[in-house]
Formats: sequence, structure tokens, C-alpha cells
Amino acid sequence: MATPGAAAPARAPDPLYIPAAPKAVPTARRTTSFKPSGPGERLPVKRILVTGAGGQIGSWLVPRLREVYGSSAVLATDLRQPPADALEAGPFRVLDATDGSAVGEAVASHRADTVYHLAAILSAVGERDPLRAWKINMDSLEAVLEVARERGCAVFTPSSIAAFGAGVPDPAPQDTIMRPSTIYGISKVAGELLCDYYHRRWGVDTRGVRFPGLISYGSPPGGGTTDWAVDIFYQAVEKGSYTCFLGADSQLDMMYMPDAVDALLQVMEADASRLVHRNAFNVTAMQLSPAVLADEIRKHLPNFTIAYDIDPVRQAIANSWPDRIDDSAARAEWGWSPSFDMASMTADMLQHVREG
Ligand SMILES: NC(=O)c1ccc[n+]([C@@H]2O[C@H](COP(=O)([O-])OP(=O)(O)OC[C@H]3O[C@@H](n4cnc5c(N)ncnc54)[C@H](O)[C@@H]3O)[C@@H](O)[C@H]2O)c1
Repeated sequence: MATPGAAAPARAPDPLYIPAAPKAVPTARRTTSFKPSGPGERLPVKRILVTGAGGQIGSWLVPRLREVYGSSAVLATDLRQPPADALEAGPFRVLDATDGSAVGEAVASHRADTVYHLAAILSAVGERDPLRAWKINMDSLEAVLEVARERGCAVFTPSSIAAFGAGVPDPAPQDTIMRPSTIYGISKVAGELLCDYYHRRWGVDTRGVRFPGLISYGSPPGGGTTDWAVDIFYQAVEKGSYTCFLGADSQLDMMYMPDAVDALLQVMEADASRLVHRNAFNVTAMQLSPAVLADEIRKHLPNFTIAYDIDPVRQAIANSWPDRIDDSAARAEWGWSPSFDMASMTADMLQHVREG
């Protein structure tokens, strides 16, 4: 593993590189030394638009962005209106992220210089209607990237461990073969490449991470293969038992949402001159299987039981993903380091789920 904070190796000259257009985001704006855990810290340097803000990540990210950059600086958008109290602390607008002219108008009227593009169809839902998932995931990304190119915005786009597929070494390296078998994974690989292309070709400041499964309370997960790792906590507290749709030993990387949100802010504030990679960095915090997490939950709820009723579709998706990923590039290039491990995440989740 590379030493955290070590200087990244120099990038090889790219024969297709075209210098950034004048409207592109200046590098200097991205060099702010960002400490996401600093008390009361605020960096009033950005105006941000978030797509898909009503989802599992957005419902955590938007309040954090508003805390850091100021409430009025962050325009939350989604296809659907959120519950009245959910995003009330700042501006919200209904926005279909596949509609390029609507995205352009929202970015222009908000004077946004940064877009966090979260709107997407996730893995399990995507397999139910693959063409719809492909269209929404790619059309929305294309719309956001084109607006960013025209208006000089920086863009964050999350990728996923679903971008890997068969033949990947264990742990999955930062740079390796990418042959996913799900439409979601295929859209993520295509999205990573498109984001890198917009950076190389037009100088758009695109950045991303490959998230593992994300565990959070509050907003429910959006139909992914790792939703079990959220549901298990609610069922454990409410019923004392959980029936899992994956097998007992299905191991996947996971991360607690507070760390995921920090990763988003950190990578967007990272010093561009240290970035060898952009789209997208492997990041991880822990490896969990249903049996291992059930054992950890039993340390708090000794009578908790788990049963298995395997969903073949989601099990096949999980089997196609790597057991572990190597996040040493993120650690070396922008200082990635998660705060929560399985034990601290489990204790925190149970406390918040109990409190409702
Ligand atoms: N949650 C995870 O475990 C996880 C892991 C890896 C990557 N990701 C990625 O992070 C991003 C956000 O994930 P999430 O978990 O918050 O998803 P989610 O399903 O909870 O939320 C997605 C949001 O996008 C909105 N949306 C869908 N189509 C839209 C459109 N055309 N225009 C505008 N909004 C639209 C939905 O209404 C929803 O609120 C996605 O790109 C996802 O692939 C998530």
C-alpha cells in the first residue's frame, strides 16, 4: 500500500491532450486545504448544484455541503419533490437530469461552478429495465458534462465497485481490467471513461470515486445489491430477526455514509496537481458479509437471528463484484482515510435506528 500523503507519480504525456479551454475551472480554485471534520468550517468559494439530491447519498450530502459552503450556495435538485422537511434548509428545484437544456438553465440561474451528479438508476433496479437504466445513467451524465463544458463547472460523478467484473485480481486494483456484466456496471465504466475524456479533451475538472455499498440511516437505499446492509439494522431493531437476500458468506466492500460524504468533499477539494487519476478512485472502509455483520449486531442484540432467502438476480450481481478493492491510489493522491470500521459503524447505526 502506498504511504498516505506521499506525492503521486508523474502522469505520462497524453498525445491526445488538448489544453483546457479558457472557461474551464482554474486549478487554483481546487487547491483549498479541506478538513471536512473541522468544527464550523465554511469555505464560501463555491456555488453547487446537486442532481438526484433526494436519494440515499444526496440526503446526507446536501446538508453537509450547506454546512461547509453555506445554505444558499447549494441548489438541491431531483426528479421528485422530497418530503417537506427533508431539504428545507436551502433551495430545491424539480429537475430531470436527462434534460440538457433544463440542467443548463438551472446551472446558469444558480450561477453554479460545481455539480455533484448523483441522479442514476442503481444495480438491482437497473436489471429490471436495462435500457431505461442505460438511458437515464448515460443521458444525464452527458447532459451534465456538456453543461459543465459550456459553463466551466467542475463535476463529481460517483462510480461503483459494480464497474469491475470477471477476471479482476483480488483485491481489485485501481487500474485493472473492467468487464462488468450488469447494465449498471457497464454504465459506470462508460461514465468513468466519458468523464476522463471531458477532462482530457476539454479541460473539464471531472472527479469521481468508486463507492462500495453504502450504509446509512434516514433515507432508504435506492435499489442496490448492498441494500441488505442497511435493512438488516432496521429489522434487527424492529423485529429481532432479518431474512437476507444474499448468501451468508457473500463478502463485499462497504462504507458508512459519513465517510462517503467526506470522500466526496475531499476529492473535490483535492489539489489537482497531485491527481494522477480522476475517474474514478477506489475507496473502501470495511469488508462485510451477512454472517459477519450479523455476528457484530449480536454483540449489541444477543437474541438477533438471521435467515437466508437468496434472490438469484442480486446474488448473481454480488458474485460478479470483487470481494475487496485496493484504495491506495486515493490514500496517496488525496489523503483518503475512513473514520468508521465495522464495530464503530454498527454501534452508531444501531443507536440512530433505535432513536428513529
Ligand atoms: N448507495 C450506494 O450504495 C452507492 C454505491 C456506489 C455508487 N452509488 C452511486 O451514487 C449515486 C447516488 O446513489 P444513491 O444511493 O443516492 O441513489 P438513490 O437511488 O438513492 O438516489 C438517486 C436519486 O436520483 C433521482 N433520479 C433518478 N432519475 C433521475 C433523473 N432523470 N433526473 C433527476 N433525478 C433522478 C431519484 O429520484 C433519486 O432520488 C448513483 O450514481 C449511484 O450509482 C451509490
